[in-house]
Amino acid sequence: MPHPLEDLRTTALAEINAANDEQALEAARVKYLGRSGSISAWSEQMKTLPKEEKPVVGKLLNDVRTAVTVAIESRAQEFRAQKESGALARIDISLPGATGPTGYSGYSGHSTPLTGYSGYLPLERGSLHPLTQVLERSIQIFRRMGFALADGPDVEDEWHCFDALNTPPEHPARNEQDTFYLPDGRLLRTHTSTVQIRTMQAAPPPVRVIAPGAAYRRDELDATHSPQFHQIEGLYVDENVSIADLKGALEFFMRELFGPGTGVQFRPHYFPFTEPSLEVYVRSKALKGGERWIEVAGSGVVHPAVFEAINKARGDKAYDPEKWSGYAFGLGMDRLAMILFDIPDIRLFAQNDLRFLKQFA
Ligand code: PHE
Repeated sequence: MPHPLEDLRTTALAEINAANDEQALEAARVKYLGRSGSISAWSEQMKTLPKEEKPVVGKLLNDVRTAVTVAIESRAQEFRAQKESGALARIDISLPGATGPTGYSGYSGHSTPLTGYSGYLPLERGSLHPLTQVLERSIQIFRRMGFALADGPDVEDEWHCFDALNTPPEHPARNEQDTFYLPDGRLLRTHTSTVQIRTMQAAPPPVRVIAPGAAYRRDELDATHSPQFHQIEGLYVDENVSIADLKGALEFFMRELFGPGTGVQFRPHYFPFTEPSLEVYVRSKALKGGERWIEVAGSGVVHPAVFEAINKARGDKAYDPEKWSGYAFGLGMDRLAMILFDIPDIRLFAQNDLRFLKQFA
């Protein structure tokens, strides 16, 4: 015959299971575990039991108490879970996000619905264009080296684009086949080096600026050429600036942008406004297609003739080539982005194709 405590356990567990709300469960808890509940009553009775029965019944009583406690707790847990899922069930997670005056738009810029659409339009999360991403990273790196931002117009005069940069009238870059001229003789700048000139006209040395922006050339549009492309110009003029400073700054920049294992190579070149002039190449095993050397910039030590042109325009001797020296560079921004993100075709930057742009989100 089972011990009465066994029966107690069976009834108690059945009752707990049958409790279909929190009150019923609480009633069961009081009935069995409460101060004057049946299990407590059994504890009292223990004192009256003969010695030899005590260990057996004591153990049984403990087991029953544990079983009942666990059952009550797990049933309570079930009730809590039901409550939570009941609350969640009222939210339809398949509904699109709400915009417009009646809904939460996520941010205040779009508190009115887009024209012609009065309902609920899910807001897509935007992202930065890959060129913008490269630009922001580049600016950050140059900031750490003390460069400030400078700016100049896309539509320029010949003096800022060529003459002041020691580029004579017969130079091929000035040819109608190479440059977009406006009817009034102005032109779309062929490089951002125009901002070197504007910066030095505006302020005496020392100067340390970068000037990001668009440049234009009459190139046939193909995978690697575009009539509009982007550069980051750099200019540093101070006392005792040397080619070693130029190389150090550009090596630092390339390794910050492309990774510490990046190889940087300087090859002799010619630009009218720098002497000596260097083309900059990078190579990095960490990048796709980075096995070969890729040209990313033109650079050099500022030609004294550029300082002389500035002095003449300023009407002073602020840029005395005997006292000041400088370096300049022009980074191909599209090229940097193509290397960094493994983009095969420069045309993708301007086509506004979301399938392309979303890959850089
Ligand atoms: N302006 C040159 C170009 O567009 C690059 C350059 C900038 C070279 C500064 C030297 C110094 O090719």
